[in-house]
Amino acid sequence: MHVACSECAAPASPFSLCRCGGLPEFALGDVRLDPLGLRRTLRERRASYEPLFASGVWRLRELLPPIPGQAIVSLAEGNIPLYDSAAGARYAGVDRLAYLHLGMSPTGSFKDLGMTVAVSAAVASGARAVVCASTGNTASSMAAYAARAGLDAFALVPRGRVSDAKLGQMREYGARVVEVDGSFDDAFAELARMDGAMIVNSINAYRIEGQKCAAYAMLEARGWRVPDWIALPGGNLGNISAFAKGLREARQLGLIDTLPRIALIRAARGVDTSASAIAIGDPKSLRRSQRALRDFDGIEHFLDDDAILAAKAAIGREGIGCEPASAASLGGIRALRACGAIEPDADVVAVLTGHVLKDVRAHAHALA
Ligand code: F0G
Repeated sequence: MHVACSECAAPASPFSLCRCGGLPEFALGDVRLDPLGLRRTLRERRASYEPLFASGVWRLRELLPPIPGQAIVSLAEGNIPLYDSAAGARYAGVDRLAYLHLGMSPTGSFKDLGMTVAVSAAVASGARAVVCASTGNTASSMAAYAARAGLDAFALVPRGRVSDAKLGQMREYGARVVEVDGSFDDAFAELARMDGAMIVNSINAYRIEGQKCAAYAMLEARGWRVPDWIALPGGNLGNISAFAKGLREARQLGLIDTLPRIALIRAARGVDTSASAIAIGDPKSLRRSQRALRDFDGIEHFLDDDAILAAKAAIGREGIGCEPASAASLGGIRALRACGAIEPDADVVAVLTGHVLKDVRAHAHALA
């Protein structure tokens, strides 16, 4: 596997931006794996007692950048439930809907899938400290994995805009939390001053490699049947890039032969949304996400907070629950169905990115 700039294709470092400003990305290259053999291997590893294969990320080890086994830091992440939801389908107005609940992860968000790979790579490279800018979930996840690895962790967060649960988690795992005045974008700008610590935001190419495993998990749970649509909440736009990468690779490997369409749902209120996880004005993976939208015949939709919180309440009433940002996926499908962009007989996967306990203050909003 080699790393190249996603913009100019020049060889790149996996840890930092290319000189042209583009993001680094691993290329699967011409890995040749028999798709049926790969499916069987995944099933066998799921049934095995090998501790590493308790992780849905590391069960896909052959598709990840090579990292020595002794450097791997795992919390058995990536065992992701796919919940069929008749109520969700009715709410959105489509024939079939399932929630891929990435909030059911060790630290309660999808970030764990990427963080196990990024922190393992940090350990393998001899780093002593890691750092990220975050609206809360990336930093909580970083803090946990860094603590497991014995690394120092520094979290740059926008003051007053991160839920108490996420701040509590970061501190519980021993991270040093630096509150920055302004928004996520201002916290991100501060990263440049954190010399000596490895950045584990999604500009770090290892993060995307771990997060792409969510796409494989979804396909595996569906018996490798591709849905018509996948709906994702968007913030910094790393996750849509990771899903797109996983799906492109799954097709290259012959695991699937068609691609789903992607609905990217962002907050209409931008940095002022009450879905604080996605309160971002200047997403760092914007160009990559535009490429994903082109390749997957995708649609980008901006949803207002009322629609996000109404969808959150609907998911809660099913006994599933999620944090506000996650509900943008269901709310977005409903909005895109209403305007005719998604067809009524669609088979849709709504990606839920964060656990219901991540942000409990929003319950009051949802019920009001
Ligand atoms: N949902 C949740 C719960 C998130 O925490 C985030 C991003 C997203 C969706 C959007 O994902 O950024 O890859 O487009 N949270 C980041 C953080 C920004 O710092 O925790 P994205």
